[in-house]
Amino acid sequence: MTTSPFSAADLAALVARITPVHVRGLDAYQPGKPVEELERELGITGAIKVASNENPLGPSPRAVAAIQGALGGLHLYPDAGGWALRRALGARLGLDPAQLVLGAGSNELLYQLVLAFCEPDDEVVSHDYAFLSYRLAAQVAGRAFVAARASAALGCDVAALTAAFTPRTKLVILGTPNNPTGAVVTRAEVEAVLAALPDRALLILDEAYAEYAAAWPEVDHVDGLALLTRDPRVIVLRTFSKIYGLAALRVGWGAGQAPVMELLSRVGRTFNVGTLAQTAALAALDDHAHVAASAALARRGIERLRDALGGVSGIRTYPSLGNFVLIDTGKPSGPAYDRLLRQGVIVRPMAAWGLPTCLRVSIGAESEQPRVLAALRDVLS
Ligand SMILES: Cc1ncc(COP(=O)(O)O)c(C=O)c1O
Repeated sequence: MTTSPFSAADLAALVARITPVHVRGLDAYQPGKPVEELERELGITGAIKVASNENPLGPSPRAVAAIQGALGGLHLYPDAGGWALRRALGARLGLDPAQLVLGAGSNELLYQLVLAFCEPDDEVVSHDYAFLSYRLAAQVAGRAFVAARASAALGCDVAALTAAFTPRTKLVILGTPNNPTGAVVTRAEVEAVLAALPDRALLILDEAYAEYAAAWPEVDHVDGLALLTRDPRVIVLRTFSKIYGLAALRVGWGAGQAPVMELLSRVGRTFNVGTLAQTAALAALDDHAHVAASAALARRGIERLRDALGGVSGIRTYPSLGNFVLIDTGKPSGPAYDRLLRQGVIVRPMAAWGLPTCLRVSIGAESEQPRVLAALRDVLS
């Protein structure tokens, strides 16, 4: 390791001089522990990572094949307009490609939304147990984030949310299904939010897990894309990271009205979505069998996990329409997290999300589920 030629005190003084106020208070995103890191630390092999809501079926084989065909073009810049992918998405969804904007994951689009629409005094509003990136995207840009009280079931409490609206409210962001709770927003709830939405605000529906929710047709939940024709203030975010299994490539998209999306695209980085990402996403889009199998696997896994822990006293599991389950262990979850790690099962502790007694467990492969369930039962009983 190289040592710095500067003293720690001089560097601390420099950092104090250059750090803007809004960066001083930032909490960096806390990434999950990679499998290889855990195995090295604990001297084990065969660890299972069920911490990042990834698709255990892997990427669509069509995406993998398509990428191989694109490797010879790596010396060329990507299509900055994402034409082929936006055209294919538009044809699939009945939207004009001008209504679609691509991002390096939907996470990047969250940051772009704040850049494009929030003036210095504007507020980004969501609720207490929403996806952490909503808060980060606002705060990184020095904008205020307002978390309304969540419902008792850790979902969106519409009355509390709308009570948090002010003339400064600019973006209202709701995840449905929400991460980390798995809760959905119903059609009626979204209508109530839109009815109360201040004139100059937009409603962002983050539907990163929408294709998983489709496996639960009996549960009422909003379809953001259907809302696009009803209210021009709605923007829907989707991703290829989850059910399409392309998280490593970083590609997601947003849909809304063309003039609104044009504003969003003004703040995007040129060439933000690489060629391999666009190529893979285009190929994966048509792999209906892969999507259906992934959604069915997640639903079966959620039902199995909730059944398996249903009898454990002091534990609460939350209904989820995503590919993960939030478990309230009834006590600080750090020790349970550590014991699971020692059994080679990596889950996500939720303290950073304001849920210090909770763990979030993604649905793994069928072959992994028995070991994950046994470890959970053992540690939580
Ligand atoms: C609710 C939600 N929204 C957005 C994202 C961002 O996904 P990506 O940037 O990979 O598209 C995630 C990822 O975990 C998520 O859970």
